[in-house]
Amino acid sequence: MINVSVLGYGTVGSGVVDIIRENNELISGRIGQEIRTKYVLDLRDFPGDPVEDILVHDFDIIKNDPEVQVVVETMGGLHPAYEFVKACLEQGKSVCTSNKALVADFGPELIQTAKEHNASFLFEASVGGGIPIIRPLQSSLNPDEILEISGILNGTTNYILTEMTDKGSDFDSVLSDAQNLGYAEADPTADVEGHDACRKIAILTSLAYGKNLDFKDIYTEGITNITDRDIIYAGKLGAKVKIFGSSKETGGRVSAMVAPVMIYPDNPLYSVDGVFNAILVKGNMVGDVMFYGQGAGKLATASAVVSDVMEAAKNQGSTVEIQWSEEPLSLVPFSENKNMFFVRVSGSKADNEAKVKEFFGAVDAVDVGFNDEYAFITEKMTEGDYQKAADSMGNVINKIRISI
Ligand code: HSE
Repeated sequence: MINVSVLGYGTVGSGVVDIIRENNELISGRIGQEIRTKYVLDLRDFPGDPVEDILVHDFDIIKNDPEVQVVVETMGGLHPAYEFVKACLEQGKSVCTSNKALVADFGPELIQTAKEHNASFLFEASVGGGIPIIRPLQSSLNPDEILEISGILNGTTNYILTEMTDKGSDFDSVLSDAQNLGYAEADPTADVEGHDACRKIAILTSLAYGKNLDFKDIYTEGITNITDRDIIYAGKLGAKVKIFGSSKETGGRVSAMVAPVMIYPDNPLYSVDGVFNAILVKGNMVGDVMFYGQGAGKLATASAVVSDVMEAAKNQGSTVEIQWSEEPLSLVPFSENKNMFFVRVSGSKADNEAKVKEFFGAVDAVDVGFNDEYAFITEKMTEGDYQKAADSMGNVINKIRISI
């Protein structure tokens, strides 16, 4: 019998309980023994809910129960999630979490703790919700050197950008619609400022290279500066604006970034719209592989958590190996990264053309009929050179990198 305990009976935690109940026979058959949820920990009471009888408010009951082999952490936040997870691992209990903040902050340490106690620390649901990406990176893509990862890693921002593109709406009104529909959080800062995607690309990049990429080292730009005018220009160029979390290996050095990009229809991520997420991985042998699905949502995310529970159950008494050491992964300085930039400056073409040529060199103008601004695409240049040219111009309204 595998006894599971769930810490946090919110959206994902209740989904885990539902899946273990609804698919009990199938799951038990596939892991070769019966499975049940023994406890649910939450501060709240749930009168009349099926978990009423197994609800506990004291974490120590779970920690000290030797029958509990697998703990699911779906509380979110760093504390006390970290302390609870660490304590469970130290008791030799495997932990499966959907908590990307916990994984991005403490991943290598918790992996090591799990190993020292013949347990597993698994986090398939922490990136891309229900999309299988952590395990494929660790197993199916193992023979490959990973050259590049580009991901639409946040459903809220993809929904906002899709609505702006399809309906011509402005950022603020789409965001408030998204909040009313329950897609966006009441406080959407982590999503719209790119912090959520930043933690996710930090996790994926750490797994791809086996070393720890500190998410705080990743240049992160959100979508709050994207306006309906940017979307109109993108349309004229036959492109879409998306926000990518991306990382790339060139000559043994890794670069990473979270930022809005313009992408063209030949990019497989072009047609990933709405709340969907997708991750495109380029291996040096396998070529391009894309993972697509629901990046959030109760049952999708819970399904990924339960897949980890099953993996932990099948490996009871040993550790599911995760290649992610505490050794820091250093990034190429951001100013050295090269990109093409779509740039809008205030003032007319006549006001700007000569100065643009002087500071940016040869550019391709993009005209959609606005007389109060001038827009153009640069050649490939470093971030440092872009910044110098933009500072010299002094009238940049916005810039968006072009994904090529
Ligand atoms: N707020 C996240 C999103 C949820 O919008 O994608 C999943 O991490």
